[in-house]
Amino acid sequence: MANPVDAAELDGAFYQAADTFFHTHRGEALTYDDVTLATLYSDVLPRETQLDTRLAEGLELHVPIVSADMDTVTESRMAIAMALHGGLGLIHYNMTEKDQLSEVSRVKNHVHGLIQDPIRVSPDQEIGEILALIEKKKFSFATFPVVDADNRLLGLLPGHVVKPRYAKRRVREALTPRSEVRTIQEKELAPDPIGRADRFFTEHPGIHKLLVVDDRDGLKGLFTMSDIERITQERSAQLKPARDSQFRLVCGAAIAPMRRPDKSLDSDRILGHVGALVERGVDVVAVSTAHGHSRGVGEVVQLIRSAFPTLPIIAGNVTSAAGVEFLADAGANVIKVGQGPGSICTTRIVAGVGIPQFTALYVASRAAQKRGVTILADGGITKSGDIVKALTLAHGVICGGLLAGCPEAPGQIIEINGKLYKQYRGMGSLAAMKAGSATRYGHSSSDTSRKIAAEGIEALKEASAGLDQVLSQLVGGLQSGLGYLGAQTLPLLREKARFTRVTVAGMREAAPHDVVEVKTTASRDPG
Ligand code: XMP
Repeated sequence: MANPVDAAELDGAFYQAADTFFHTHRGEALTYDDVTLATLYSDVLPRETQLDTRLAEGLELHVPIVSADMDTVTESRMAIAMALHGGLGLIHYNMTEKDQLSEVSRVKNHVHGLIQDPIRVSPDQEIGEILALIEKKKFSFATFPVVDADNRLLGLLPGHVVKPRYAKRRVREALTPRSEVRTIQEKELAPDPIGRADRFFTEHPGIHKLLVVDDRDGLKGLFTMSDIERITQERSAQLKPARDSQFRLVCGAAIAPMRRPDKSLDSDRILGHVGALVERGVDVVAVSTAHGHSRGVGEVVQLIRSAFPTLPIIAGNVTSAAGVEFLADAGANVIKVGQGPGSICTTRIVAGVGIPQFTALYVASRAAQKRGVTILADGGITKSGDIVKALTLAHGVICGGLLAGCPEAPGQIIEINGKLYKQYRGMGSLAAMKAGSATRYGHSSSDTSRKIAAEGIEALKEASAGLDQVLSQLVGGLQSGLGYLGAQTLPLLREKARFTRVTVAGMREAAPHDVVEVKTTASRDPG
């Protein structure tokens, strides 16, 4: 073949589209650092890019980042923060089913435009009982609507009387009477309840609670000014929270493939738990295992799919086209791709199994396209550039280690030699398996008392800044990547990306070199 001289031909020969690139390199499995993306003509500024991604019907995110379902990464605090920034948190399952339900409820009830089921008190209760309730439930508020046995509004118990000195008084003696409580009729709220409540608070300085009632003065809900202010600010913010159709934050939960002592699938327990999660408003369940292309995982996905036809299901993990097809055919909408790339994973060392992540993503992405499902790149993401590369093939990424140092991750800060750390452990580490995740690695929970080969380690991550700062760095990098490729959206990134192989010398060139680094997070001049 003659050497091409035409610019487009020359670029095309050296910087290849995914199908050409990966077929040229078949036989060697590549990961993020083995590859770099070519810049392309652009008239897109990073800040003009849109990062929305649709993982499944009814599961749309504004930022394509998911926090891992690991017991040192995602509980309600992380899931709330992720959703507030447009992403998604998957609550782990190393806890009782009851606790997992409460964690999901905490996320779903986090910020309401309208609190549809406010905590009510009755006129005959003593203030002391209300104080005990606040203590027990850890409420951060002390103002309560007062209703009769028919849920009809009798007044409002203001926070300034909910004090120990009034403990023996009855609510009826201390409440602000109905005639002085501001209310709005439910039917007056349409079409924009938040806008209507916002206007009310502007028109009534000093009033911070607005009760919603029906025609018979039955209590239908409560607006608080602080919620409304937060929501109106969110509406103008760049990173929009990811919400469901009822304006609640999105939340996912991981499901264990629970088995009976005779090893058969515990269908009743699985369906009972998923049903309870759905009642709490969960947006997606994740059947998370180390080997998704296996009979047991297929059975769980089929079971959930047949009982909940429209519930989005994430399932994994796989690294082959056949694995993607298998889970898609079982009923999964989103497939988790990654075996062994995680920062705390030892599957490849222990079992000699797994595929470097970038090749795995390519293979999985082509099967996913064919089956009409999406994929999540799970594990091995250590910098924002990896996210850009992953999203040339996947619809989202799952991060564990990158988020485990945030204050929003579960666990205490540990100080060692003046440095602050947080614990981060693999769900296949012995400690995590003992705490409940053994089934994820194909062991029964009783196996953990004998010696089984762990596939993950226990580690520490340096304590990092809050999630908002960590995510804004990651999102900033992602937006830059899109800008360099002239791609305004993620589908355009997937379409336009051109790849080339990087050598070890090229990798060295990509990182800061031949300087004494004084700041590690400063933005770098790309030239
Ligand atoms: P990162 O690289 O973000 O990876 O820390 C998080 C992902 O790693 C997977 N995971 C494990 N894989 N042994 C494994 O082989 C483990 O103990 C383990 N724990 C988590 C998981 O997919 C997670 O999202």
